[in-house]
Amino acid sequence: MSKSRENSILFSPIRIGSIELPNRFVRSATHEFMAEPDGTATDRLPRLFAILAEGEVGLIITGHAYVHPLGKASPGQTGIYDDRLGDALRPIPRAVHVYPTKIFLQIAHAGRQTKPRIAGGTPVSPSPVYDPSVKLKPRELTGSEIRGLISDFVAAARRAKAAGFDGIQLHMAHGYLLSSFISPHANRRTDEWGGSPENRARMALEIVGGIKEANGRDFPLIVKLNSADFLPTGLQVEDAIDVAQRLEAAGVDGIEVSGGMAESGRGSVWTGLRAEEDEGYFVGSAARIKAAVKVPVFGLGGNRTFAAMERFVAEGKVDLISMSRPFIREPFLVKKFREELIAKSDCISCNRCFNPRGISCAELRKAKA
Ligand SMILES: Cc1cc2nc3c(=O)[nH]c(=O)nc-3n(C[C@H](O)[C@H](O)[C@H](O)COP(=O)(O)O)c2cc1C
Repeated sequence: MSKSRENSILFSPIRIGSIELPNRFVRSATHEFMAEPDGTATDRLPRLFAILAEGEVGLIITGHAYVHPLGKASPGQTGIYDDRLGDALRPIPRAVHVYPTKIFLQIAHAGRQTKPRIAGGTPVSPSPVYDPSVKLKPRELTGSEIRGLISDFVAAARRAKAAGFDGIQLHMAHGYLLSSFISPHANRRTDEWGGSPENRARMALEIVGGIKEANGRDFPLIVKLNSADFLPTGLQVEDAIDVAQRLEAAGVDGIEVSGGMAESGRGSVWTGLRAEEDEGYFVGSAARIKAAVKVPVFGLGGNRTFAAMERFVAEGKVDLISMSRPFIREPFLVKKFREELIAKSDCISCNRCFNPRGISCAELRKAKA
């Protein structure tokens, strides 16, 4: 570990496409449960992000914003399927840009991992493969619906740029729509959208091409990519490496590596305390992807200890460190790391921060009661 944290590689700047981040700390996308029922952002969101920016997070990635009403995954989720919803997001970048922090909007579609009462209709998927996690069989998308959804993702990215965000993250992880397209388990199609690795990646690649054309090649676009579905017939890390290389060739500026699919019983948000050497539970897969691409790679999953994060970057396994739950517990985590006030996040990974009234740390709620 460096003598002074100020000199740590974690506090050195890094470029993501055309922009520079002040340090290597990323607030990974975290659904905030802070939007109106129709997806309109409330004023709780700019307040939340301003605090994270004051706490010196280098890059904030918002919770997933749904690009089409049928792609809504969860109550209180932010929507970006309409220009009006894009306008409602404008106060967010404005609040963050008081600080050196950058902010990207994560855009997503839930695919088969939602329920009719949330999405307002039968969930859609590349193939009608029953999902035990939501106990339903989704409806197979037609080719023209897939084309329509590509346009919806591109329109969402255009709205995010107009609203003042510094970049976009495309959600291609956790079993949601774009993750299910690259998954040989969820995607059983035999047309141009399924079968070969190239066909399974086609939808994401066309979205990337469309966004780059709409927003300009310089406007940063990163992805959150599944490294494995944790199903025997699902996506494996070798498949993810292939997808990562295709995304890079299409112009993607960075790759955050995650994993999991609801129906496997192993999602992305693992519970329980782990030893320092077991932190960064997707960093091993991220390192394999990093070895195959040139764009910056983000390491994720149970990162809690400063020294471990510093090793991941210093050893060249990843370029940036992403965290979600630690920032719910302590928005000033990065500042406290820099000032050497703490060596580790207090987050115990209990997952009780998932709160329909708005994310908050249950341990802190308990302490206050
Ligand atoms: C409350 C909550 C909401 C989340 N929402 C999202 C989301 O909107 N998009 C996403 O890609 N990941 C989401 N995640 C997953 C996190 O980004 C992250 O990948 C995961 O929690 C592991 O990181 P951690 O151990 O630092 O929490 C969420 C996690 C939590 C705890």
